[in-house]
Amino acid sequence: MNLMKGIILHGGHGTRLRPLTHTGPKQLIPVANKPISRYVLEDLKNSGITDITIVLGAAYPEKVKQYYGDGSDLNVKITYQIQDAPRGIAHAIGLCEQHMGTSPFVVYLGDNLLKGGINHLVEEFQTSNQDAMVLLCQVKEPQQFGVAKFDGEGKLTQLIEKPKHPPSDYALTGIYFFKSAIFTMIRQLKPSWRDELEITDAIQKLLDDGYNLGYQIVKDWWKDTGTPEDILEANRLVLDEMKPKIEGKVEDNSSLQGRITIGQNTNIKEKALIRGPAIIGENTTIEANVYIGPYTSIGDNVSIKQGEIENSIIMNNCIIDIKDRITDSIIAPYSKIISSKNTPHGKRFIIGERTHIEL
Ligand code: DAU
Repeated sequence: MNLMKGIILHGGHGTRLRPLTHTGPKQLIPVANKPISRYVLEDLKNSGITDITIVLGAAYPEKVKQYYGDGSDLNVKITYQIQDAPRGIAHAIGLCEQHMGTSPFVVYLGDNLLKGGINHLVEEFQTSNQDAMVLLCQVKEPQQFGVAKFDGEGKLTQLIEKPKHPPSDYALTGIYFFKSAIFTMIRQLKPSWRDELEITDAIQKLLDDGYNLGYQIVKDWWKDTGTPEDILEANRLVLDEMKPKIEGKVEDNSSLQGRITIGQNTNIKEKALIRGPAIIGENTTIEANVYIGPYTSIGDNVSIKQGEIENSIIMNNCIIDIKDRITDSIIAPYSKIISSKNTPHGKRFIIGERTHIEL
């Protein structure tokens, strides 16, 4: 059998995630202390796909290369392809034509998360005679996605990108299964109203030309992490499934409640209270009397000197020292939030790398 290959899209605009994307691509933002695109890569690997192309954009491609290298640490073989500007998902896939050759392949957008991975879907596609297969998910706001239209017998008849009047609430997820026929369609595309080569249009062309297009429906959850709210929701979803593991030092008088992961060389001082689900990385210190609430991810080399943190992501090398509660926040690496005077409760932060705030 022709072995399946994989493509991860790691370019794009990232504008809705500024300032977090001023210093790195959105796909490297950590959810439960792991970059989003690493979940994608692991999903591919766990389904037996080890020949993986990562399409890099113009925003910090070197950070992606530095993180993944040639893939040998993760037992996969990574090839990089540069996309000079975000000219569309179909354009990005088109760049991989030569490397994909005649192999079937999976395209997985680097900012998508799917519970349970893609194992069963890869199997389904490989044993079918489909030329392409899409994964659909019921969503609340279909107009923000590519949307599927069906006939009375449940046959997929049309795919429309971000329709004003969606014909159904079934969105196209960013996980696609293709055979090489898709490249013929991509070559025929013209830029859309948003000046991109749309993969939705290329799949529509497959349908129009009578190719065999299949679909599967997400049974559990799928998340496209386009906005800070999406990232926090993804963090909650992943933490909800995390297996607890305590490797650091937890002092006797502190209290850990619920599912908690604590990394090596991390110190939880006396009278600190941590309520899971929560994850704390390596070489981090949670000082006495600090409260870490549910759905919080704290990275490596962080120091929480005082304060309360809930439903938030605090990335590596941050210092927090305030008599206040930080909630629903995303704090990028090397940020420092320290008290200058007593402040009212319930502040919210979505701030970029190396920010320094004194309240
Ligand atoms: O997430 C699912 C949705 O993804 C689908 O429902 C839509 O049909 C599909 O068009 C796409 O819509 P978005 O507008 O959300 O795509 P976005 O521009 O956010 O890009 C998705 C990912 O692909 C993101 O990780 C960045 C990457 N990308 C995007 C473009 C346009 C590239 O690597 N290169 C590109 O040129």
